Amino acid sequence: MRVIIRKTYEEMSKEAAALVKKRLQQKPNLVLGLATGSTPLGLYRELIRLHQEENLSFKNVRTFNLDEYYGLAPTHQQSYRYFMDTNLFNHLDIDKKNTRVPDGMAADVEAFCLAYEEAIRRSGGIDLQVLGIGGDGHIGFNEPGSSLASRTRLVALDEQTINDNARFFARKEDVPRFAITMGVGTVLEVREIILLVNGAKKAEILARAIEGPVTSLISASALQFHQRVSVFLDEPAASALKRVAYYRFSEEAEKKIGREIF
Ligand code: F6R
Repeated sequence: MRVIIRKTYEEMSKEAAALVKKRLQQKPNLVLGLATGSTPLGLYRELIRLHQEENLSFKNVRTFNLDEYYGLAPTHQQSYRYFMDTNLFNHLDIDKKNTRVPDGMAADVEAFCLAYEEAIRRSGGIDLQVLGIGGDGHIGFNEPGSSLASRTRLVALDEQTINDNARFFARKEDVPRFAITMGVGTVLEVREIILLVNGAKKAEILARAIEGPVTSLISASALQFHQRVSVFLDEPAASALKRVAYYRFSEEAEKKIGREIF
């Protein structure tokens, strides 16, 4: 794993955006996996700036989002489709037809989940997946105990996730109890991963995820099985890590040899 630590959220977001830009320049028809939530907002702002000020084009990009609340229509202001449109897609030259978010209103959920996996396969597979980590260690909505081989499916949200996400809803009771999420196994098949984490509140769970044992109780720990993961942190999020000196040394070494060290 590459662990890149920056002083501020702003700086870590810019650093992550620079990696997306580089991959996009290497492959203009990149297949991007995307996340919602507070964490990637800085990255998305910077991608919009790169598009508007530096002509970075998303014209041929295809995207797949990790998850969607089950029971929310795409027009609902707390749906992840609405989030993606307003916080990213509406500000880029991306073709909306090429952006996919799981359908929270799917009548036949199982058929929908199979079709979502099939669509990912047909696209050639996800090149670069953006992830955040939940307070309970989840990636996507793979709550503690999710199989590390799990696929896209309907899940029940954990009490902690419902509490964490209540901040976006008028009342806690309005937070959906279910979601459709890519599985841990689905995520592990992508070619490359960016994990973004900021703030002291996430420091402990992040340290357990990347420096602790792999366990289905912290689905982010499964990333230790992936060969190309870059973790972007601000200093508060890095505060519980044991190997910070090594991560910094490794980043220096990367600069010297001019290539990424995973
Ligand atoms: C969102 C997602 C979740 C979030 C995680 C962190 O699509 O898949 O795993 O990344 O819950 O959320 P924030 O960034 O709001 O702390």
